[in-house]
This record gives sequence, structure tokens and C-alpha cells, in this order.
Amino acid sequence: MKPSILIARAIFPEVISRLSSHFEVESNQDDRVFTPQELVQKMQGKSGVLCTASARFNAEVLEQLPELKAIANMAVGYDNLDLPACTARRILASNTPDVLNETTADFGWALLMATARRVTESEHWLRAGKWDKWRYDYFLGSDIHGSTLGIIGMGRIGQAIARRSMGFDMHVIYHNRTRLTPEQEAHANNAQYVTKEELLARADHVMLVLPYSSGTHHTISEDELAMMKPTATLVNLARGGIVNDVALIDALRHKTIAAAGLDVFENEPKFHSDFLTLNNVVLTPHIASATEPTRRAMANCAADNLIAALQNRRPPNLLNPAALI
Ligand code: GLV
Repeated sequence: MKPSILIARAIFPEVISRLSSHFEVESNQDDRVFTPQELVQKMQGKSGVLCTASARFNAEVLEQLPELKAIANMAVGYDNLDLPACTARRILASNTPDVLNETTADFGWALLMATARRVTESEHWLRAGKWDKWRYDYFLGSDIHGSTLGIIGMGRIGQAIARRSMGFDMHVIYHNRTRLTPEQEAHANNAQYVTKEELLARADHVMLVLPYSSGTHHTISEDELAMMKPTATLVNLARGGIVNDVALIDALRHKTIAAAGLDVFENEPKFHSDFLTLNNVVLTPHIASATEPTRRAMANCAADNLIAALQNRRPPNLLNPAALI
């Protein structure tokens, strides 16, 4: 008998077909976002799940799923998975790294440009019929070329962003848990390793690309925003919770920093409604990896991981090798 799996959210139909040749599949093409109770109920009798960050597998949920053997998260971030609890239960957890690096880095650039050059703010003004004349001081933004880019979280996506900055003659400074090798730094536009404090004080544009964990919760809050230049922009591509959104709203309102570009929010898809009252913030609905080829690659990568795990092979992107022991 084929093992049973749940595909917890809507996905490309061809990926359902692929998985159906290996498993009994329950899919969710209506794309209902399950409550934790519904998830537990849907998961009964399932050996595996292909899910996104909206499904939270914590110790309490896992305890109710004794048959579960594999979780394939269709995301590079995996803060929705309690890895120690997965390991304790010998559940193989995986994510989808690498396939989204370049697409996400492109979007970081889109958000940076839109934020610093006030693209969406000026478009809203134009659409509202307010464009009366050309004026020397309408929508003055800040330059990207020749500026200092500060990247917090210099993993594969951070390095892809740094490489793109070469074309803009930028100076790159970065802060990361571990320093890159000299070769990696050279490849990332000669990025210079600095403390977080130095980065915040020197950067014209700060880009957040670090994973979320209890250790990175509110990496940017009141104190950090106060260290930034009043002309600086902040871009968050990583996860809600890395920035204290209430503190950011205050900083944007009082122009402690110039502007922010946000693809992720605390408690998304709900977000703090005060963001909507501010002109100096660009808001996008968690779409950094959203191109057709990349989302397809992510879905297939998650499927590869799930198939391997349930065929007793090592998933290519296993997050908890200790679960194999
Ligand atoms: C998206 O946010 C991801 O983690 O892939």
C-alpha cells in the first residue's frame, strides 16, 4: 500500500500528479489555511506532508501525529518547524534552499529601488490625479549608486544581493553570525565584515536577509532604528518578527529613518494597519520568491525531499540529520 501524504496548501497540479505516483495524496487545491486543530485532523494517518510556512509543526502538534515520518517545507525559512521536536520523533524535516536565491535577490533589489526612489508613493499620487506640474523637489529620494549597502544576514541570498551591487558601484558592509571566507567576501563585491552597530550607523540602505529564530526576534527595534541615518532606508525580505513593526512605524512617522520596504510582517497576512497611513513605506505581500520558474522549482524541490524521505533515502535538503541516527 502506498504511504499517505497531505499537501497542505494549493500547489502546481503537475506536482500533485508527480506525488500521486508514489503516494495516496490528499490535496487542498481550495487553499484553505488550516487552523492547528484542522491540520492535526487532516494529518491523521499520514506519513508525510508537503507544507508552507503557514503550517506550524510544534511539539504539541507533533505529539498528536505518531505516524508522521517526513515534513517537506516549501520555503527556505523553517521557523514554522520545531526541529528538535522533529528529531526527537525521528521525523525528517527539509526545506527548499538555493532554488530561490537569485529570484529573491532580484526582489530585494526591486524593493530597495522602489523604497529609495519612492516609486510606489509617486505612482499612488499620480493615480490619484495629483500630478499638476514638474517640480524640482517632487519625490526626492536617495541615491542607490555609490552608496553604502548594509546587509544583515549574509547567507546565499545576502551574497546574491551583494553581487548585484557591483553594477551600482556600491560599497558593501555586512553582519552575520559567522564571517565569510576572504574568497566569499571578494565574490560578494568585496563585502566588509562589521558589527551590527557599525553597519547601522554607516549604511545608507540596510537590507535584512537573516533567518528568524528566538535569537533574531526584533533584531531591529527602537535602539537599532535610532542608530540608523535619518536618510537611510530599511528593507526586510526575511521574516516578520525580525523587525519590531511598532517601533518601525514610529521611526517612519517621525522620519528617524527615511523609508522602509517590507515584504514580510509580524503576524502576516494580518499586519499593523498604521503602515497604511504612511507614505514612506513600500508594502508587498511576501512575494520575494514569486516567479513562475522559481515557485515551480521550490514545489519540485519539496516533492523531491518528501519522496526521498518516504523511500528511506536521505532528503537532499535534510535539516535535521540527527533524525537519521
Ligand atoms: C519564503 O519566505 C521562504 O522562506 O522561502
